[in-house]
Amino acid sequence: MRSREEGVSLASMQDNAENTTQPNLILTGFMGTGKSSVGRQLARIFKRPFFDTDTIIQQKTQRKISEIFETDGETAFRELEKKCVSEWIPESGAIISTGGGIVTIPGMRELLRSRGIVITLFASAETIYSRTSSSSNRPLLRTENPVARIRELLAQRERAYVESGIGILTDGRNMIDLSEKIRRIYLREVLLRNKPTNGSAKN
Ligand code: S3P
Repeated sequence: MRSREEGVSLASMQDNAENTTQPNLILTGFMGTGKSSVGRQLARIFKRPFFDTDTIIQQKTQRKISEIFETDGETAFRELEKKCVSEWIPESGAIISTGGGIVTIPGMRELLRSRGIVITLFASAETIYSRTSSSSNRPLLRTENPVARIRELLAQRERAYVESGIGILTDGRNMIDLSEKIRRIYLREVLLRNKPTNGSAKN
């Protein structure tokens, strides 16, 4: 009989890439750190479905993120994000990109970790600005000086990002390198999770 650890060897996980019982791979990080792009790429690599919490919220409410912010305010949007993670995302087997402010919700870091393996993407304020300047889905950056606003929000949220998952700096990394790095971290975490309890499951 195969041991539990053998049962989730890298080779078998890749062979069973469509196995939906594998933990979700959840991406967190500030706006413009590349969560959605790399998430889609990882979904192709693992042959798993891709979800984005902003898109789920827009589909469920039939409203745009900017409209929710304008009419109901940020707190109402955060409530929707909470509902999304606790009720709307799949239990397992998916690649999930989350909205940049989700980690600021009290209790969310623990909730995210209970829903999958969490990887947090980082980027410099300049990189973030260059990636977000043409977006309409980011009402928090609609200000006179978006770079200053990015810096301010990054500083406010830094601890939440550091604590939310395994961190990866994305500056200067191309999509292939980045997705390969995340793929390896995810597979390692799955193996560690499935190790017998006397083995260390620490990072
Ligand atoms: C937000 C990030 C956005 C979106 C909303 C709020 C934030 O998602 O959820 O505009 O507070 O950082 P992305 O990180 O996908 O841009």
